[in-house]
Amino acid sequence: MNSSSTGLEWTEWLQGWRRLTYETLFQKIHAKHLQDPLLLPPLNGLNCIVTGATSGIGLEIAKQLAESGAHLVMAVRNTSFAHQLIQKWQRNETEYRSLSIDVIELDLFHLESVVKFAQEWNSRSKPLHILINNAGIYSIGQPQKFTKDGYETHIQVNHLAPALLSVLLLPSLKRGTPSRIINMNSLMHVIGVVDPQDMNFLTKKNKFTSRKAYSSSKLAQLKFSSILQKFLMNTNIHVMCVEPGAVRTNVTRDLPRILNILYQKMFFFMFDAQQGSRSALIAASDANILDYCSDLKAQECNVCAFIGCNCRISEPSKEAHNEITSFEIWNKTMEMVGLPAGGVDMILQGEEIHCRYGANSDR
Ligand SMILES: NC(=O)c1ccc[n+]([C@@H]2O[C@H](COP(=O)([O-])OP(=O)(O)OC[C@H]3O[C@@H](n4cnc5c(N)ncnc54)[C@H](OP(=O)(O)O)[C@@H]3O)[C@@H](O)[C@H]2O)c1
Repeated sequence: MNSSSTGLEWTEWLQGWRRLTYETLFQKIHAKHLQDPLLLPPLNGLNCIVTGATSGIGLEIAKQLAESGAHLVMAVRNTSFAHQLIQKWQRNETEYRSLSIDVIELDLFHLESVVKFAQEWNSRSKPLHILINNAGIYSIGQPQKFTKDGYETHIQVNHLAPALLSVLLLPSLKRGTPSRIINMNSLMHVIGVVDPQDMNFLTKKNKFTSRKAYSSSKLAQLKFSSILQKFLMNTNIHVMCVEPGAVRTNVTRDLPRILNILYQKMFFFMFDAQQGSRSALIAASDANILDYCSDLKAQECNVCAFIGCNCRISEPSKEAHNEITSFEIWNKTMEMVGLPAGGVDMILQGEEIHCRYGANSDR
């Protein structure tokens, strides 16, 4: 560990691990007060986009939002599987209550796909009330890989692509105010170290491991979200990060088969996907959380709302509060996703902005 402006001191790093271990082991006890499944209010009339809605936590979030009456857009890379899921869900509905669901292709490995998705949704001129950036990867133990866009895969899928999506969808979110951008974060951000000069882990000082890449991508997302909240200060668009807890899903798919089975079966303290979906669903449906977000904006707080897996407001890491490094991450992210530095203000003023990753753009 180093002690640079974006690094972690040893003591903070150890404290981070201690918190991670404690909160993970006792998550079921801390979430004992919650319903399972949550009882959501009627969400009729709300348009919700959920990324990664074909597996794990995202699948549960999507199903429950649709069952509560929202119009759901499944933003997924496997569209045929999404259609199969919808057919299965529809079979359980009565003829008086059918689900309202669309499927649009989105592959976060390709920033061009993100631009295409946003153009497709924005062109409908509909309000967007809730965007849930849920899709993510944790390629445990895998060697370092890069996307065709040239970025390390965790940083692209977990941070860069959702950041681009959130910014490009602002015209629709503005139409849907009060609206919410909900980022599926992780408590692992507390052990993350993100260097804006080396987001791809290319230097010796910042050597790649999958754990480091995952935790750093989540810290980068939290810091970017906190600055986005500042840019959205005078709007009724709210940005939140939520953490689902340690959840039994396909996120461990890259582990060797035997380890994967052990991981899925052994750990009694883990949530199932339905339990893991609760923090995002509360963030999407609770009215009091919007008041809390407005208070944070009014106090010009340096960090956006962070909701723990027990669905209570939680405190993100000390580094997440560091406004100077958060602005560095913001600037670097906007550059990496091919957006102008003042892009958010331009969009809010109704200007069209050009993204380097749009179709037919010169890279
Ligand atoms: N499980 C946990 O303990 C845990 C803890 C903290 C945070 N989280 C976060 O929770 C979120 C959901 O993870 P999960 O546990 O539910 O894992 P999961 O079962 O593996 O689901 C991940 C979802 O993301 C989608 N996805 C992955 N790469 C994508 C890409 N390039 N483009 C579009 N979609 C992509 C997957 O699509 P396919 O179905 O096509 O593969 C899948 O639907 C992630 O952001 C993860 O970091 C999970």
